[in-house]
Amino acid sequence: MKEKLIEIIKEAGKILKDGYSLNKEVNFKAKKDLVTKYDVAVEEFLKEKFAKEFTDFNIIAEESDNKNIEFKDSIIVDPIDGTTNFVNQVPHTCISVGVYKDKEPYIGIVYNPILDELYEAQIGKGAFLNGKKLEVSKENDFQKSLLATGFPYSNSTNQDDLNDVIEKIRTILPRCQDIRRLGSAAIDLCFIARGTYEGYYEMNLKAWDVSAGIIILQEAGGKFTSLSGDKYTLFEDKYIVASNGLIHDELITLLNQ
Ligand code: IPD
Ligand code: CA
Ligand code: CA
Repeated sequence: MKEKLIEIIKEAGKILKDGYSLNKEVNFKAKKDLVTKYDVAVEEFLKEKFAKEFTDFNIIAEESDNKNIEFKDSIIVDPIDGTTNFVNQVPHTCISVGVYKDKEPYIGIVYNPILDELYEAQIGKGAFLNGKKLEVSKENDFQKSLLATGFPYSNSTNQDDLNDVIEKIRTILPRCQDIRRLGSAAIDLCFIARGTYEGYYEMNLKAWDVSAGIIILQEAGGKFTSLSGDKYTLFEDKYIVASNGLIHDELITLLNQ
């Protein structure tokens, strides 16, 4: 299944890449939440191909009405993760596809067609970037750790969320190497998998933002949990906390201060 998925996702990547430098017809789903005709085009393309190839799975996709689709044997699609980057030609943008069997992780694929970087993992078989095996970093000193985060779209309308973002940065920033905000949750998780970041946290993400990245991270030896440090549950947890495993406890402790 993985090879066929990759073939289809690479084809879809051409739609994203072709649109990257063109006029994108930007619409607003909310004050800060963008969607372009390319998000829709990539999603339509993937849904059509997946429905034909993988008949045992249903498809949950960001720009679709998922109301009557039960999460079970599911392919969870973010057609463009990092849409704000895509619109502004910041090259960190990708297609993210996570496959789940009976709600359990199976295959994760994140493809950035701008940089031609394909991350892929299947449970029990390791994680790879353009064919090269991935491993999380061995850094265990929090002060030397490079972290990443994201800012929820709710920051302009929800004062509690904005305060939470700022308070957490106030606690974490002086205690780590630095914090990045790259603008694609899927790529952020892959950046821990490849050993670039030691850790990452973000609130209010949707299942399609992380469905593939968490599988890639797990297969690269990393860890992801809820804010309390318990098992992270797709579609349920407000926060995701991810790391190389070595700084995880300290990150959880600081985020809960
Ligand atoms: C967004 C990106 C971003 C994160 C946002 C997500 P989108 O996804 O992953 O990094 O901070 O919360 O919603 O809207 O570009 O698919
Ligand atoms: Ca997303
Ligand atoms: Ca998206």
